[in-house]
Amino acid sequence: MAIRRILHYPDSLLKQVSEPLDAVTDEIRELAADMAETMYDAPGVGLAAPQIGILKRLIVLDCAPGDEENDLIVAVNPEIMEGEGEHFEEEGCLSVPGYWANVHRKSNVRVRYTDLGGEVVDREVDGLLAVAFQHEIDHLNGTLFVDHLSVLKKGIFRKKYKKIMEAQDQ
Ligand code: NI
Repeated sequence: MAIRRILHYPDSLLKQVSEPLDAVTDEIRELAADMAETMYDAPGVGLAAPQIGILKRLIVLDCAPGDEENDLIVAVNPEIMEGEGEHFEEEGCLSVPGYWANVHRKSNVRVRYTDLGGEVVDREVDGLLAVAFQHEIDHLNGTLFVDHLSVLKKGIFRKKYKKIMEAQDQ
């Protein structure tokens, strides 16, 4: 296993649409293990393959990373089948370091994905996990949480983020 480098906005790879995976191979299982290690190291609650420069539809999630239980979810070709309810809370992203903003999401979603054993999983999720699925699946479509902001808020984001990046470079 290895910790991979996480790409940061405005890297152009983060804007690309990722390709579906044909099968769950050992290579994919190794990639998922690297992604999980990278997510826990960051630390974060989710990571999508394009965030480490791999344009494949693969995400990892763990909304309770600190606890003893293994709550890791690895989802291959994940899709939101349906969603309802409103959720509006602060989000951040490992690819947009130092910036957080409120985003409108669905509060309950039904997701479908293939797990690492090759089984199709169809389940309903809510709360933080529902938000995390929506956030990570967005990454597979080249969308970042800041893309959901209003024009005004996006302008504020760009200015703030420029300062954050300049401060990091020093
Ligand atoms: Ni993200």
